[in-house]
Amino acid sequence: MADFVERLRTIVGDKGLITDDQGKHPYLTDWRENYLGSALAIVRPATTEEVSAVVKLCAAEKVAICPQGGNTGMSGGATPQESGREIVLSLTRMNRILEIDKVGYSMTVEAGVVLKTIQETASEHDRLFPLSLGAEGSCTIGGNLSTNAGGVQVLHYGNARNLVMGIEVVLPNGDIWNGLRALKKDNTGYDLRDLYLGAEGTLGIITKAVLKLWPKPKDVATSWNAVPSPEAAVELLSGAYAASEDNVTSCELMGRQGLELVFKHIPGATDPLADRHEWYVLLEWSSSRAPREGANQSGLREKMEAYLGEAMEKGLVLDAVVAQNESQSRAFWALRENHSESQKKEGPSIKHDISVAVSKLPTFVTEGLLAMKKALPECRPVPFGHVGDGNLHFNCQSPPGWSKKQFMEYGDAISGAIYDLVTSHGGSISAEHGIGRIKVDELTHYRSQVELDTMRTLKRALDPDNLMNPGKVVRV
Ligand code: FAD
Ligand code: MLT
Ligand code: ZN
Repeated sequence: MADFVERLRTIVGDKGLITDDQGKHPYLTDWRENYLGSALAIVRPATTEEVSAVVKLCAAEKVAICPQGGNTGMSGGATPQESGREIVLSLTRMNRILEIDKVGYSMTVEAGVVLKTIQETASEHDRLFPLSLGAEGSCTIGGNLSTNAGGVQVLHYGNARNLVMGIEVVLPNGDIWNGLRALKKDNTGYDLRDLYLGAEGTLGIITKAVLKLWPKPKDVATSWNAVPSPEAAVELLSGAYAASEDNVTSCELMGRQGLELVFKHIPGATDPLADRHEWYVLLEWSSSRAPREGANQSGLREKMEAYLGEAMEKGLVLDAVVAQNESQSRAFWALRENHSESQKKEGPSIKHDISVAVSKLPTFVTEGLLAMKKALPECRPVPFGHVGDGNLHFNCQSPPGWSKKQFMEYGDAISGAIYDLVTSHGGSISAEHGIGRIKVDELTHYRSQVELDTMRTLKRALDPDNLMNPGKVVRV
């Protein structure tokens, strides 16, 4: 294989190749440290043409490719398998913003641009790119599109699939498909773009994208609310759509257990409220219309305060703080966004990235908490997430002091109980994190035979030698 690696070097140069063990290591394990893979080399092309040449060489030599962006994925999709017969193809050197079309509300970028850079660039041009998630400082747009990422503004703007007009893809045979069309309407046959969104690198490599932009918000109201129950959270959200005049952009639910972990592990994190409560909602409204000036000032903050006042009278809210400035709002968001980091610091946890219809969420939570405790009475449920999308991270922290090995002995019992419950409510076992490697077996239980057969037919047709991220999403 030494010759193969040298041929890679002639394509991407020294700058684009990592072959030493120490340099390779960070690319071989996932954010959650569930997997440790192996690779012939980490290949970091700088252009689409280089990606194409690398893929052609791999196709000729039958070497598999694991595409990788920021490596923040939660499902192990960006980690190569253990065989050592794969390369990791990292897109992180392809990090240029290529064009901003302010009038047409679009931005063309390379796949390795970090999400935060896209958000900031849009903002500098008085525009908004609404995809927003805890990993935004390191995840890449190629990874976001390949996982069809969700995040905290899906209820208003949709998930990654809704935020993109066109993509460029290097196919498993190395051909380049230029689908970089900035079109809002295009009914010319099968939608190839949609096929690659959420494909987790199993059908090809996304190299560029034309993203949709929105007007930048000029009026934002954020509140931190204690609520008596998930039922109250769902009702609070339901009424908020009309009260905000359709300006609800985030609604996140958190339980006390998760919040306690944030206080424990994140320096400077403090409780915005004086008393302890069981459930919290972070509610945000935003609008591109600036608040009116003058005595009759009526902005979203005033509207939100009025709405929360009414909600308190009805018992839907127990206590609340509306942010008076941006730094207070950022502090509320830090309590929410640090849930994953705090869970990681606390020790082993099992994630269930589930969704059910929003109205079924409260029942699901009640039944799910009972099911988890039945499977392992000492476990610590940490449910939180995107209530407006019916998507909760119905996570389970190990009992204090347990090793991962000890905890994972209960993994199948805990996850099986949750997934069966999700299925009985007509929900999904992976709302936003994808299947990756971690849920390949679960997928075969929770999708129908017709769906699985169709997915496998597609995979075999587009990647007959199974070289694109093998072992992820579907086994063929
Ligand atoms: P990677 O992890 O590198 O890759 C993810 C998958 O995409 C892999 O299968 C990989 O092979 C494939 N891939 C990557 N780039 C390409 C490409 N250019 N072409 C083809 N395939 C590619 N996710 C959410 O949806 N919502 C959240 O709210 C959320 N919050 C998070 C919070 C934290 C703290 C963390 C650590 C993660 C969170 N995630 C969330 C998960 C993760 O950030 C997303 O899945 C993100 O979209 C992954 O982007 P990435 O660039 O890191 O991709
Ligand atoms: C989030 O929304 O913070 C992540 O997707 C959740 C997780 O880490 O389970
Ligand atoms: Zn999430």
